[in-house]
Amino acid sequence: MKIKKTLHSRIGKMDFNNISFGSQYSDHMFCSEYKDGKWQDSIIKPFGNIMFSPVSPVFHYGQAVFEGMKAYKDKNEEVFLFRPEENFKRINRSAIRLEMPTVPEDIFMNGLKKLIDLDRDWIPKNYGQSLYIRPFLIATNGVLSAKPSKDYMFMIISTPADAYYKHPMKIKIEEKYSRSAAGGVGFTKAAGNYASSFYPTKLANEEGFDQILWTDSSTHTMIEELGTMNVFFWLKNKLVTPKANDNILSGITCKSILTLAEKKGFSVEEKNLSVSEIIKGLQTGELKEAFGCGTAAVINFFKIISYQGNNFSLPDLTEKKRISFCLKKSLLDIQHNLSEDPFGWRVQLKRYL
Ligand code: PLP
Ligand code: COI
Repeated sequence: MKIKKTLHSRIGKMDFNNISFGSQYSDHMFCSEYKDGKWQDSIIKPFGNIMFSPVSPVFHYGQAVFEGMKAYKDKNEEVFLFRPEENFKRINRSAIRLEMPTVPEDIFMNGLKKLIDLDRDWIPKNYGQSLYIRPFLIATNGVLSAKPSKDYMFMIISTPADAYYKHPMKIKIEEKYSRSAAGGVGFTKAAGNYASSFYPTKLANEEGFDQILWTDSSTHTMIEELGTMNVFFWLKNKLVTPKANDNILSGITCKSILTLAEKKGFSVEEKNLSVSEIIKGLQTGELKEAFGCGTAAVINFFKIISYQGNNFSLPDLTEKKRISFCLKKSLLDIQHNLSEDPFGWRVQLKRYL
């Protein structure tokens, strides 16, 4: 792998006291090209614009998949990745579904580790802050006919991150638009899944909601997930989340929360979860808490759930009484190397350079 370091670091301009997600990018990026049927030499180079043919399928047919992961610092400024092998596996599940070449493990892991090591000064130091890492794979060459590309580019970029949502969320249960359908690409991190969510989300934002709670596309009676998060409910003293299926992105945060909650002795269940169960829980008071979880957002609880024009408020609990708070703390403590990691989730970053 070639490493071309920047001669003009932008780190001096980075305001770590005022981090706004995605507004500044670390100095370097990782690029690996797939050409002539094989992966070519990789390079780490200064972050900058990229240029591809205007007929690249990424522009016309949305042949693009991505990942989201984070690097954290502990008190001694040692750096840790969280379950990176899960992102590696997921990007390849996505790639296969979009008829793209899979990224070899050594390219993904070496690229990731060396890039983050080189840009380790970009990782914020405070608890709850991190460096958000965005690996992505795009189709870069082809002819204009609707066919998969011959050439691809796998890249990794990163941006310092603080809390993605800074307040409790107002959520709308969606009954008109859909994020995914059976047999589709809902289980992947295909770029198009996000593009298609922007319009319905804008409409929901205009009604005063933060995010949409997606339901199944054929009946709109079953809960699936949020725009950028999986969802949990604390219902009848049980932590429940929709059972993963082809429509739902299988979240690494969700999976980790299930493991953590079980270890803490909470009763947990992944099940087919109906909208009516949730509404009943809101009406009877048996639904005490609801929250979304994901890499960017971590864990964020809901204040209001809206269904068919009725706004249901969730109990206004103190932090201490919130299962979401307790789980968030346990997760962040593991990520920041403040507690034991009995599950082997943390991967300490070596110093390569
Ligand atoms: N669902 C969607 C649609 C997402 O975009 C995300 C974020 O990546 C998640 C769920 C949560 O997944 P993870 O916890 O792996 O970040
Ligand atoms: C993530 O949590 O990694 C996401 O995918 C959210 C992102 C679209 C900002």
